[in-house]
Amino acid sequence: RKKVMVISTGAKQLDELLGGGIQTMSITEAFGEFRTGKTQIAHTLCVIAQLPTAMGGGNGKAAYIDTEGTFRHERIKAIADRFGIDSEAALENILVARAYNSEHQMDLITEIAARFAEEKGIFRLLVIDSIIALFRTDFSGRGELSERQQKLNQMLSRLMKIAEEFNVAIYLTNQVQSDPGAGMTFVADPKKPVGGHIMAHASTTRLYLRKGRGEERIAKVYDSPDVPEAEAPYAITVGGIVD
Ligand code: GTP
Ligand code: MG
Repeated sequence: RKKVMVISTGAKQLDELLGGGIQTMSITEAFGEFRTGKTQIAHTLCVIAQLPTAMGGGNGKAAYIDTEGTFRHERIKAIADRFGIDSEAALENILVARAYNSEHQMDLITEIAARFAEEKGIFRLLVIDSIIALFRTDFSGRGELSERQQKLNQMLSRLMKIAEEFNVAIYLTNQVQSDPGAGMTFVADPKKPVGGHIMAHASTTRLYLRKGRGEERIAKVYDSPDVPEAEAPYAITVGGIVD
């Protein structure tokens, strides 16, 4: 029997909110407006996943599907420095793939699952940043929403199987809905994740991220039946996510 493991986010209060960190055999979704730290949390998790379990790590490798071109080697190196691990080795332990459309994203997931199978027990984390962006571009027409949701559902079911079969933690980033505002502008509704009930159903844990005062950020567990609606502040630094 596989045992659930947790991977620390780098911030104690955020870890506590999550019951120790993000869990394997589970999907954690983070959504929030731009610059709330979704991508920086992803980078931090990729390094911490490699640390020994005694340090809050998963003692394994990470895979990263980048749909927005925001994966940065320099960020990984700086986070590795914070934890005192070799930065080149830290980078080599992250399998990074850039996805260019939603179908390509699905193909990459299939390839990554094959790697997980080849290197059994070696990978502990799969990041998709973002799960939804390419779907929104590919199915932007008025009549295409149900097809988008159907394809998204297939992808999320595949991801849940991968999480369970290979005992990996899956971290997905999501966006917030934009509603037509005054005049020609669109304003984001920061509290509404994209993806509807398909996304809601697939995520084991949903984190709503928002900006606080100055550089402060706040995470809240969203819509969970068993976790109280607690909040945790965190900050983004050169060394990744901290309290
Ligand atoms: P979108 O993808 O645009 O929706 O945003 P996001 O939620 O992914 O935001 P991201 O994780 O990219 O966070 C951006 C924030 O991280 C910005 O406020 C940056 O100032 C901050 N940031 C990124 N790198 C560093 C760094 O090296 N040091 C510090 N202090 N802050 C950083
Ligand atoms: Mg981002």
